[in-house]
Amino acid sequence: MSSSLVLSEIQNHVAILRLNRPQVLNALSLELMDELVTCIEMFDQDEQIRCMVITGNERAFAAGADIGDMATATPIEMYLRDQFTKWERIRKVKKPLLAAVNGYALGGGCELAMLCDLIVCGENARFGQPEIQLGIIPGAGGTQRLTRAVGKSLAMQMILTGRTISAEEALQYGLVVKVVPVECTLKETIKIAEEIAAKPPIAVQMAKEAILMAFETSLSEGLLFERKNFYLLFATEDQKEGMNAFTEKRKPQWKGK
Ligand code: CAA
Repeated sequence: MSSSLVLSEIQNHVAILRLNRPQVLNALSLELMDELVTCIEMFDQDEQIRCMVITGNERAFAAGADIGDMATATPIEMYLRDQFTKWERIRKVKKPLLAAVNGYALGGGCELAMLCDLIVCGENARFGQPEIQLGIIPGAGGTQRLTRAVGKSLAMQMILTGRTISAEEALQYGLVVKVVPVECTLKETIKIAEEIAAKPPIAVQMAKEAILMAFETSLSEGLLFERKNFYLLFATEDQKEGMNAFTEKRKPQWKGK
């Protein structure tokens, strides 16, 4: 499916979603986010899709929420519009979501990348939460997810001063999993997505769910959640297949059942 603000294509069980407002560095307008959330939810329901990749272009992943949408808004308009609640729907997606980031990932762009399950970036990537320079603070998770990703000191500096960090720094602080040449970013991310897509899908989804639970619960609750998912996987045909294939020294054939 292709729409104007988010272009999508499917490749070997992987859906690739490209943010498509290059003239404004992929600023995340209300319409773009509507399309993105709709697309992601559609692929989450599609049995053919096992993993998704969100990307932008070489200059920008996304330079933030669209400032034009917000500049003259009143508090009540912002409250009624409640635009960031929609972003929460991305958090509910069961399938892994990967971000392939080149160029700017600022404000909402950085927050969108951090909403994904892992980030691969190009050497020219710049991550930041520059909202303070607009007289606001991050509104789509930046204070929470950046702090969890890079730690308190750097998050404080980035959010209180608007300082952006390079791809190398992002790697050093664990915000991204890999830095690659700009022209390889999407290809490398798809490679990881395909690797994930080749694994038993129910186990992948339950593993994602359990990892994300680490950010929501105490250790005891998280361990209990993990254990329940672990036991539950013994109800799948893929568990039997995986263990039989190991014993029979052959490659498993996953069914997603
Ligand atoms: N919203 C709307 N338009 C944007 C935009 C944004 N977030 N970011 C860039 N643009 C537009 C620019 O207005 C410009 O449009 P025109 O050509 O019509 O003037 C076009 O994109 C290209 O941008 P620049 O000319 O500014 O490009 P540059 O290379 O000189 O600078 C930049 C690049 C440093 C990223 C600069 O564009 C910039 O600072 N952008 C804003 C970044 C920002 O503050 N993001 C946070 C937004 S608020 C937010 O995201 C809240 C939240 O928590 C969700």
